[in-house]
Parts: sequence; structure tokens; C-alpha cells
Amino acid sequence: MKALLKAELPELKLVSRGKVRDIYAIGMDLLMIATDRISAFDHILPTGIPGKGEVLTQLSAFWFRKLADVVPNHMISTDLAEFPEDLSEYKKILKGRSMRVKRAEMFPVECVVRGYISGSGWKDYIRTGSIGGITLTPGMRESERLSEPIFTPATKAADGEHDENISFAKMANMIGGEEAEKLRDLSIELYLRASKHAEARGIVIADTKFEFGKNDRGILLCDEALTPDSSRFWPRDQYRAGQSQPSFDKQYVRDYLEKIKWNKKAPAPPLPAEVVRGTQKRYAEVYFMLTDSVLQQ
Ligand SMILES: Nc1ncnc2c1ncn2[C@@H]1O[C@H](COP(=O)(O)OP(=O)(O)O)[C@@H](O)[C@H]1O
Ligand SMILES: [Mg+2]
Repeated sequence: MKALLKAELPELKLVSRGKVRDIYAIGMDLLMIATDRISAFDHILPTGIPGKGEVLTQLSAFWFRKLADVVPNHMISTDLAEFPEDLSEYKKILKGRSMRVKRAEMFPVECVVRGYISGSGWKDYIRTGSIGGITLTPGMRESERLSEPIFTPATKAADGEHDENISFAKMANMIGGEEAEKLRDLSIELYLRASKHAEARGIVIADTKFEFGKNDRGILLCDEALTPDSSRFWPRDQYRAGQSQPSFDKQYVRDYLEKIKWNKKAPAPPLPAEVVRGTQKRYAEVYFMLTDSVLQQ
């Protein structure tokens, strides 16, 4: 299997190419195609991970269905047969990795929920004793479980920049207090519901990021949801507080990039075949564990 690094559909109108997804217009809706691109430290790597796009799309679809009673989402369909436009000539590119979605006006914030202290949250905590302005109990250990999940929003960074953690007050200033509260409560509720499902299947969701938008009918959960790109997934049976954890997510790639001491500036280095395979394996495994099913190729 070859990695799909770019989805080219010359007959459709390209709306944008993100770090991972290529987005086209179909009428008033959007066609989101998850490519096999992988980004780390906010750079797109030159090497793709074959099949990664399928995992992201199908896992997001799984969660959108499962959590639809918490908040409506942007998904219309992942079934090519239900795409009205004649896209059959692109079947090979689209199959398994594309989703027709409702176009939304996106809130310019990343809604991060943390149930455990790790990653940038752990770094902030060591430095300041708090994350995003939320003061935490002193003396916590790396990867420790928080007494309850916390909401730590971030702004979506411009290309090549790091996302910046912001306080809830700043988020409320940016988008309005009422909607900020609504997004916070929804994010926590989604996290709790998803964690319960995942834990029963041997996976700890240490933290995750949601993106919301709105259309004329109200708030929608958009983008991807609870995937290994947007979340830290840890195998429950190996979890030990006080250290970093083995994981089913992009951490494995980040660890490799740290090991080779990449300075995190362009150009990003390629990944060796072994790291590509290791990533594929982790993404496929977490998909299987969470959904009890194998990917549709
Ligand atoms: N329903 C939607 N309507 C409009 N934009 C969306 C919707 N869902 C997701 N998006 C946007 O589409 C892009 C998804 O592609 P992605 O590769 O994740 O981009 P990025 O590099 O910005 O993370 C994101 O910028 C996201 O905010
Ligand atoms: Mg994204």
C-alpha cells in the first residue's frame, strides 16, 4: 500500500489543504479527505503513513455516531454511494478516507480536555504549577490522573507555529462567554463519555482536542474526533504514573524525531520504514480496540 500524500480532484473546487486533510466543495457541503500525511511539532513530514487517513476518517465516523446525542456533528456520510455528485472516477482516492460534511463557521479555538497530566500540560505544570490558568494540586507526577478532567483551550496556530494554550477567560473574550461555556461543557461531556467506552476496551484517553463550528442550526462538533492524531491514547494495562507512557498515537513519531535531535525547523526529516510500520501498527491496533472492527479498505 502506498501513502496518499495529496488528494487531487481537478474537477472539484479545492477549499483548502490542511496539515492532514484536503477539503473540496460539493455544493453547499464539504468533502473532507484525510490523506496519509502526518504532522509532528506542527510540521508536515515528507513521509506519509499508508492507511492513516482511513483510520482517522473511520474512527471519527465511529465517534460521531456514538456521541451524536451529546452534540450534533458535521458528518453527513462516509459512503461513496451516497455522495450525489459523480465522484466515481475518484473512487480509489476517496474510498474509506472521505467524509461529506456540513460546512460550518469554525470557532478559532482548539477545545482541549485533559484527564491526565502529560505533554505540553505537564511542561506548563512543572514551570507554573498550573495549566492554562488552572492551578493544580502541587506535587503531581508526570502522567498522573487529574481528580477531574480539565478544559485547557488553545488557539489554532498559523502554519509552522505552535498552538498556544490560553486561559478560559481569554477564550470567553474571543468568542463570547456563553458560547465558551457551552463548548467547555460539551468538550468535558464528550471526553467523559468517550473515556468510559475506551477504558472498558483497555485504552486510556489521556487528553484530546475537539474543534467546533456553527451553522444556522447551532453548534456542531466538526473536524476529526478522538483519533490518534487529536488524542493521547495509552494502553491501560501498562499505565504507570510518574513516567511517560507507551502510546497508540503520534507520540511514537515525536519520540523518534526527538531521538534524532531534529531542531523542529523546516525541512522536516523523512521517517525510516520501521517508524512508518510502527505507526501503522499502532493506529490500526487502536482502531480495532476502540471499535471492535477492522478498517474498510
Ligand atoms: N465542518 C467544517 N466546516 C469548515 N471547516 C472545517 C469543518 N471541519 C473541519 N474544518 C477545518 O478543516 C481543516 C481540517 O484539515 P486539517 O488537515 O486538520 O487542517 P489543520 O492543518 O488546520 O489542522 C481544519 O482547519 C478545520 O478547522
Ligand atoms: Mg487539524
